Formats: sequence, structure tokens, C-alpha cells
Amino acid sequence: MRTHYCGQVTDSLADSEVTVCGWVDTRRDHGGVIFVDLRDHTGKVQVVIEPEQQEAFNASQGTRNEYCLRVVAKVRRRPEGMVNPELATGAIELVASHVDVLNPAAPLPFQLDENANEEIRLRYRYLDLRRDEMQHAIRMRSRLTRALRDYLDGHEFLDIETPILTRATPEGARDYLVPSRVNQGQFYALPQSPQLFKQILMMSGMDRYYQIARCFRDEDLRADRQPEFTQLDIEMAFVEREDVLNLAEGLIRQAFKGTIDAELADPFPRMSYAEALRRYGSDKPDLRNPLELVDVAEHLKHVEFKVFAGPANDPHGRVAVLRAPGGASLTRKQIDGYGDYVARYGARGLAWIKVNDISQGAEGLQSPIVKFLDPTAIDGILQAAGAADGDLLFFGAGDYRVVSEFMGALRNRVGRDLGLLESGWRPLWVLEFPMFEWDEGAHRWFSMNHPFTAPVSTDAEEVANDPGAAISKGYDMVVNGWELGGGSIRIHDQAMQSAMLELLGIGEEEARDKFGFLLEALRYGCPPHGGIAFGVDRIAAMMAGTESIRDVIAFPKTTSASDMMTEAPSSVSTEQLRELSINVIKKPGASS
Ligand code: AMO
Ligand code: AMP
Repeated sequence: MRTHYCGQVTDSLADSEVTVCGWVDTRRDHGGVIFVDLRDHTGKVQVVIEPEQQEAFNASQGTRNEYCLRVVAKVRRRPEGMVNPELATGAIELVASHVDVLNPAAPLPFQLDENANEEIRLRYRYLDLRRDEMQHAIRMRSRLTRALRDYLDGHEFLDIETPILTRATPEGARDYLVPSRVNQGQFYALPQSPQLFKQILMMSGMDRYYQIARCFRDEDLRADRQPEFTQLDIEMAFVEREDVLNLAEGLIRQAFKGTIDAELADPFPRMSYAEALRRYGSDKPDLRNPLELVDVAEHLKHVEFKVFAGPANDPHGRVAVLRAPGGASLTRKQIDGYGDYVARYGARGLAWIKVNDISQGAEGLQSPIVKFLDPTAIDGILQAAGAADGDLLFFGAGDYRVVSEFMGALRNRVGRDLGLLESGWRPLWVLEFPMFEWDEGAHRWFSMNHPFTAPVSTDAEEVANDPGAAISKGYDMVVNGWELGGGSIRIHDQAMQSAMLELLGIGEEEARDKFGFLLEALRYGCPPHGGIAFGVDRIAAMMAGTESIRDVIAFPKTTSASDMMTEAPSSVSTEQLRELSINVIKKPGASS
């Protein structure tokens, strides 16, 4: 149909005849001469339709934006002064001899630009995807998956598919269930990840596995979470932690290089979970942000102010300060805004000190709390924080985890608001996670990772005696504050696996029922193994420079897990329900 793409007609083709196809991007009628910017995935080219070319002119008369055209034309150099340096094709224009309207377009439901409301963009996704930005993102994602595959193919990995209709996989979210017609009353679960299958593949002698796998999790959605998302899933046999980290690091380094020509540090820095929480208040710290939390409990143990003294004297407590350089210029309203912000993360308050003139001691400070503190305490915290004139110090006090979390969130926000983020890519490994977390409400231990993650200790009894102290062989890869991937060395010993399940309150019977096949497979010469899974949507979003993974997914779902275009999920016929022997119970007040 065509000889060239729109974006490829440059002045080297001057005076030759070309045929291009594409969409009307803009159309201008200049008293008798029609100018059309014709667009395809490679770019735009200006087409001139002169009245002398009667047939072409007539065909072009009724065209509007997004009409689909085929144009036969002569390439003409633009006259001096008319050259458009913004456009790759800006030195030429096409003088049409023939215009075919391949298909008209109805009046558009929205202007094809990024300002359109997202719901309408998703409803008419095929129009939205025509936009340069979306074309760029989707094409970049394709380059990314190719780079990932190339690397793994080059490292002896097998691409193996695993079932979508399967049993529940324990990644901690709710399952999506699919009713079985053949086995009435029974359900498949869609995989939250291929975790169990990839471990079984290692027990099956496959040595190195990867898959670009769709995962399904029914959880609260956010900008970086979709109900179905894509993992690059990896597992390796006969490996230790170091082998997986090296492989994964090489993979991501090459993917960034190959996809967006970015260089990542070699090697990635590493940090324990405890250190990440202490310095950054997060297990996925954004290292572009130079701010760090500083612990000041030791200076506050003796003070009258209970808000500080309480946690300062509590082994599970924390008092941390975040120094906002130049923050003294913040208004009271802005400071209160930060207080409201951290309240969302469980903060009961956010004390602060404005450092106006440090040489004047307490006199040079402005704060609702200095009146509760003695000079030794004030001196201690100013020193520890490295405070200077013009700074604002924020204080978080309370439970260690809660304070870390809200001060970590504050660190992100302040770093961004004050424009402190350095540019570039800052990857790191977070290691040495605790094995378990105690849930006070449920009154039981939960896996920080999943129940197949191996502890550093090989002594099951030791782990069971003090679960809170056990460290896992898990790892997360974090780049610019986003968790891009996570994995672990797995338990390959059946006794250890049973002990860990028991600790998690999963009894023998339940374990046999849920993953008996895995426990059984462990008995037949299971090799030591481990792996990792990366969020492909997140990597792509990061490379595309967007906060929302919806921008790099062709057909994403909204935060209420619906697809605006197909209108899924939807009701089904009574016929289908009857076949599945399913009875839908309408809750009062629920919409139909
Ligand atoms: P995990 O649950 O950490 O590990 O998931 C791995 C990576 O997948 C991405 N991710 C998501 N991306 C978009 N939407 C979601 N709802 C979502 N949930 C997770 C993240 C995350 O780092 N089986 C283990 C891996 C292993 O142990 O090998 C697993 O699934 O980028
Ligand atoms: P109060 O005595 O509760 O009015 O608190 C005095 C100051 O301490 C206020 O500025 C509060 O914002 C702050 N504050 C209260 N609780 C905390 C907390 N847990 N962490 C940090 N600051 C707090």
C-alpha cells in the first residue's frame, strides 16, 4: 500500500514520488490549498493538496482529523523560511497527486492529547494509543521485553509457560477464582505468580527458567498496581544468593542500556532491610533523595515531654528527625500540610523546629516544642541533625515501624517539594529481610516474603524459637524508590518447609491440601534453588518516565478493576450461571 513511512520522507527523496498512509493529524484550509499533516507511527509529514490536482483536492475536501488516508505524492523541498526544524520531515512537503480516503472518522469523542481525562482515554483506548506519547511507551516496552529475553536466552534460560487455570498461590493477595463447569462447585484460582510451578521446574531438572508471566491479584489498586500485571519470572537451580543477584543485576543493567541507553551502577549498592528502615524509613528508599533520618532518642530519654521521652525509652520506640534544608521559609500552613500528610501514615503528630539563628540557642529557634526541652536536649538534637540556620527539623516519635514509615513518606515528599532529587538512576539491593512479621490483630506470624523463602539459619528449631529474629535469604531490587523486583533463595528441605508452614499457622492438613504437591516434590532430590521476579510494567513505566503503570499497558484497568473499553467485568446470562451451578446473591444496595 505504501512505499515509505510518513516520518521517513526526508529531503534525500526530493523530486521522487512516494506513497504514504496514515491519519490526518491536523488539517488546514488556506483559501484553496489544503494542508494535511499525515501521521503514522514514525512521525508526521506535511501534505499539500492543490486545487489543480482536482481529484486529490475533491477527495480531501471533506476530510477531518483521524481520517485514514493513502496519498501518492511528489516530494518537494520547502522554500527557504518554510522549513520546520521541529519535524524530521520539516525540510520537505508532499505535493499530492492522488488521495484515497481509506476510511473516514466520526467526530472525535475527545481531543487526542494528554490533557484528556483518563476515563475517556481508556474508553477509547484505540484513539488514545495513536498519540505519540502512547506509541512511544508501548514501543519502548516492546524493546524492553526483547532486551530481557535476549539476555536470558544468552544465559541458557528456558522460556517455559505455566498454567493460568490453577490452584491458589500464596503471595498474600486475594485470588481471582474461575468456576469449573465440568467439576461443579469447584474453582480454579488464577496465579498470583508462577511461584510454585517455577520451583517445581527446578525439581524437574530444567536448571534455568524464565517466563514473561501474567499474574493476577485481587488487591487494592494504585498507580503502581494492577489486578493483572506482568512479571519477568526467573528461577535457577544449584545457586546461592550471590548467583541470583549477579544474574539479575546484569540483566537489569543490560535492559536499561539496551532500551533507553542508560548506565546503571556496577555493582549495585547493597543495604540491609534494617539499615534501609533506619536511614530512609523505607524498604524501598529513593537514593536520589539526599535526605536521611537521624535517630535522636539518646538525647531525649530524660526530657519531660512525654511524646518524646516515651518512645525514646522504649526498645520498640523511635524518635527520628528529618532535616529539611532551607525549610525555615515554609509557612505555618505548609508545615501543617505535612502534618496532615503524615497522619495518613499513622502519625499522631509532627513536631518541628525552625532554625532561625543557631548561635542564639533556644532563642534562635521557633517551635511548638522547644519549651518542653532543656538546653542539653536541644543542643544534642541540633548537633545530631546537623542543623544550620534556615533549616526546618521535623520530628517523628512513637512505635519504631510507624515512625519509620511516616518519616520515610515525609522524606520522599520533602525531597520532592524542595527539589532535592538528583537526576539519573539509583538502583540498590535491599537484603536481610526479617523472615516474619507479627500481626497483633491476627495474633500470628506472617511471612515477609512468601512461605517458601529460606531463612539464613539452617536450623529450623532455632528459627521457630525466635521467629522475630530470623533473617531470610530474600532480596528486593529497588530503583529510584520503586520496588522493581523481589525474590529469594528457597527452602529445599522438606523438614524446614514443614516447620516454616507450621510456624505460619498452616497445619499439616491445610499444607497438604494447599501445596501437597510441592511438599511431596521436595522429597525426591530437590536441588537448592532460588529466583526473582520483576514487575515488567513498573520497569517500563520507570523507563517511560511515568508514575502510572497504566501508561505502559495497552489495555489497563481502572482503580476499580474495570476495563472501560470492553466494560469488563460484566453480568453473564442466567444460562451460563446455571451451567456453572452458580447462584448470584445480590447484596442489598449493590448496583446491578
Ligand atoms: P512479588 O510479589 O514481590 O514476588 O512480585 C514481584 C514484582 O512484581 C511487581 N508487582 C506488581 N506490579 C504491578 N501490579 C501489581 N499488583 C504487582 N504486584 C507485584 C513488583 C514486584 O517487585 N513469586 C515472587 C517472586 C519470587 O520470589 O521469585 C513474587 O511474586 O515489581
Ligand atoms: P501535643 O502535646 O500532643 O499537643 O504535641 C505537641 C507537639 O508535638 C505538636 O507539635 C505535635 O504535632 C507533636 N507531636 C505529637 N505527637 C507526636 C508524635 N508521635 N511524633 C512527633 N510529633 C508529635
